[in-house]
This record gives sequence, structure tokens and C-alpha cells, in this order.
Amino acid sequence: MASDSRADLKTGTLTLDGKTYSFPIRWGTSGPPVMDVGKLYGTTRIFTYDPGFSSTASAESKITYIDGDNGVLLHRGYAIEDLVAHGDFLETCYLLFYGSLPTPAQKADFDNRVTRHTMVHEQMARLYHGIRRDAHPMAVMVGVVGALSAFYHDSIDISDPHQRMVASMRMIAKLPTIAAMAYKYSRGEPFVYPKNDLPYAANFLHMCFSVPFEEYRVNPVLARAMDQIFILHADNEQGASTSTVRLAGSSGANPFACIAAGIACLWGPAHGGAHEAVIKQLAQIETKKRVPEFVARAKDPEDSFRLMGFGHRVYKAYDPRAKLMRQICHDVLKETRADDPLLEIAEELERVALADEYFIEKRLYPNLDFYAGLTLRAMGFPPSLFTAVFALARTAGWIAHWMEMIADPHQKIGRPRQLYTGYARREYVPIGRRD
Ligand code: SDX
Repeated sequence: MASDSRADLKTGTLTLDGKTYSFPIRWGTSGPPVMDVGKLYGTTRIFTYDPGFSSTASAESKITYIDGDNGVLLHRGYAIEDLVAHGDFLETCYLLFYGSLPTPAQKADFDNRVTRHTMVHEQMARLYHGIRRDAHPMAVMVGVVGALSAFYHDSIDISDPHQRMVASMRMIAKLPTIAAMAYKYSRGEPFVYPKNDLPYAANFLHMCFSVPFEEYRVNPVLARAMDQIFILHADNEQGASTSTVRLAGSSGANPFACIAAGIACLWGPAHGGAHEAVIKQLAQIETKKRVPEFVARAKDPEDSFRLMGFGHRVYKAYDPRAKLMRQICHDVLKETRADDPLLEIAEELERVALADEYFIEKRLYPNLDFYAGLTLRAMGFPPSLFTAVFALARTAGWIAHWMEMIADPHQKIGRPRQLYTGYARREYVPIGRRD
């Protein structure tokens, strides 16, 4: 872990109008220290200002550590490379929830508890029929996941640890079913019930791709790839959607509503929506020959165009997940014998961008989204479903952060302030006297 030469730093000071204020510096296990400015406003009547939270730690957490400069991602201290190579998604869920890798007995029990909750209330199916079939699957996910609290009232009391765990297991178990139902509904195909004799990722493929008129056999190579893709998407520290879940949870909202809020935030093209945006952009580039044209646009300060799947607020080196996803992408394309012309464009785009001064200077590398879309497309998913796949996997991280926030004895509602630049007090003019 990168050590910091300032390890003896214990206090930060701020001098205002000749008066000096001291604030404690807190060090974590790894990564930059924080200056605790919780008492700043109370002692100086001044707010900090950091609208994108680029310099702000919003929470203390033990779940995930990212070293963006060195491309390191750890979940409860375990490297993402090891979890993807040796574990499965439900093991990662257990690790994120409970903080340690499960014993064989704990894993068997956790898998069984998830399996026993994969079905949704039969009446939930009717919710889909109230939505247009050409609705975006993420619109369906936001609505249906939010509606879970209308069906599972017995697990929304957040003060009850048992109910918190029941709600958490229900979401891990039911999100794949809900996402698969959104996919089937968009295709006008009948919903497919989960099969308890299939492992988690295989069950999701079964619910998405099996049809009544022929036997569907899950391809074990694709099932393994799907499970690894879920692990890669499980958590990534205090990203926008995770922060949304924490903020929603800080008001005491029920867990289903908090996860629905996270899904809504993830949908944006700057975040999880980039999965879909990458494919659209690669198709827009059309051929390798046009790659320089689009790289030039991405560099043009007058052009708002950005390379989708590139750049990251924290990873200023190659996103470790993107490296793993690139390998999975090649494995899936080989297994499906899919010859995707977009892959050639993506690899040329990566080659040109990584050699370009602008991207080097701004430390812009491919992120998780860059190869994820190509992989999911080769597995048979339409681009509109990519972010729903991201959401079902990220539910593990969202729940872990929600649990951590709820269990924090010092937790209180998140309520930021602002820099007000609007009008000062104005006299009201009755409408009859306005010209
Ligand atoms: C995810 O937070 C997480 O952990 C997110 C995520 C997760 O697992 O939850 O990792 C998942 O959301 C990955 C990101 C997916 N989004 C995209 O691929 C969309 C394209 N990327 C960009 O929009 C951007 O890089 C962001 C949104 C990802 C990060 O934006 P930042 O941190 O606010 O960076 P920035 O906009 O301040 O960019 C710094 C500079 C800017 O230039 P200057 O203003 O300094 O001149 O880099 C430029 C930007 O213009 N830049 C890009 C670019 N990304 C940043 N230029 C061209 N193409 C890009 N993709």
C-alpha cells in the first residue's frame, strides 16, 4: 500500500482574519488522510465549497479501497484480481456484507438463502404490463425496485437488524429476476421463472434467454463470464450512485427506496449509462479510419464530446477492472465466435488515445465501461439492458454501504449547505402594478 511521507501530520490549521483555527487530521489504514472540518462552520461561520466532491471524503468506510494512481481495487482488503479469478459473485456479496470471506458452510447457507428468495411476488408481474414495452429497462428497474417496498412490508423497518438482512437478501436475490423480466417484457416474450438448481449467474442467463419452445442449456463459459462481470461491477467506493444510496438512507428511507435511488443515479451516461453510450459511440465511429477524427473531437475544448468509457474521477491509471474486463471480452468473443467489428474500433481507439499527449497528460484511461458493453453484446444482451446488468451487480455494494451507514452510531441525515448567489430580499409587487 502506498505510504504517505506526511504520516506525522496530526493537525491542519486555517487562518482567517488573523485568527488561526485547528482541525484534526485523521489517517486511515491506507490512502490520503482527512482533515475533519465538521466544526468549521460552527467556529468560523464559513462553509467549504466542493460541488463535485473532488476533495471531499463523505464517509468513513471499511468496505472498498481504491488507489487510483496505481490502479488498485480492494474489497475488504482482497484484490479484485483474486476475487474474480478464484471466487464467485455471491462470495463477493458475502465479503462486502460481512467483511470476511465465508467458510464453506457459511457460503452454502448464503447461497441457499439467496436461492430461496429469487422469485418475485406474482402480482409484481402486473406492474410491467402497466409500462410501455418500448420503455428503457432502467425506467422499469427504477419503478419496480422502488415498488418492492409495496410488496415486502415485513422488511422495511430499518431499526430491526433482522429486517435489514431480510431486505438485503431479497434484493440480491430478486434484482436478476426483475432485470430479466424487464428484458423479456421489452421483447414481448413470456417471463421465465428462476430455477433453484442453477447457480446465480447461470440462473440470470436462463431467465433472460430461455424460451418455451426449446430447451435452453446455459453455456458454462458464458455463465462463468457473467459471474465475473457481476464481481467486477459489485462495488467501487463512494461513486455517485453509492453516495446517492447513502444520502437516501441517511433520512431513514426504506432499503428498497434507497436502492431504487441508486439505480436512478447509475443510469446517467457519465456513470453506469456509459456502458450503453460506449457501444453507440463505437458504432458512430464506424471504422478504424475515423478514430483520429473522434479523438481530436474529444481533445477539442470547444467540443463537449467525450470518449465514452474513458476517464475516471479516481482511477488516474488503467482501471484494474477494465484490464480484467478486456480479457473476459476476448474470452466471450472466442466462445461465441462473434466477430464484432466494434472490438477492432475499440482496440484502435484505446491504442491511439493511450499514445496521445492529451490523454497522457490528463491521465485518461479506459474504465470499467469501455469493454463491458462489447462483452455483454457478445453474450446476446441489447445495449439498453447493459446498465440494468450493472445495477443488479452494484446492488451488492450499495447494500453493503447502506448497512455500514445505518450501523454507524454517529450517523445523521446528510444535509449539505450552499453558496447562495441569488437575489437579496426584494419587495413583492402585486401583479396589477407590474408592467
Ligand atoms: C463509472 O465513481 C465511480 O467509481 C464510477 C464507476 C463505478 O464503478 O461506479 O467507476 C463507473 O461511472 C465509470 C465512468 C463512466 N463514464 C464514462 O466513461 C463517461 C466518459 N468519462 C467522463 O465523462 C469523465 O471522465 C468522468 C465523468 C468519468 C469523470 O469526470 P471527472 O472526474 O469530473 O473528470 P473531469 O470531467 O474533471 O475531467 C478532467 C479533464 C477535463 O478536461 P479539463 O476540463 O481539465 O480541460 O479530463 C477531460 C475533461 O474534459 N476528460 C475527458 C474525458 N474524461 C475527462 N476528455 C475526453 N474524453 C473523456 N472521456
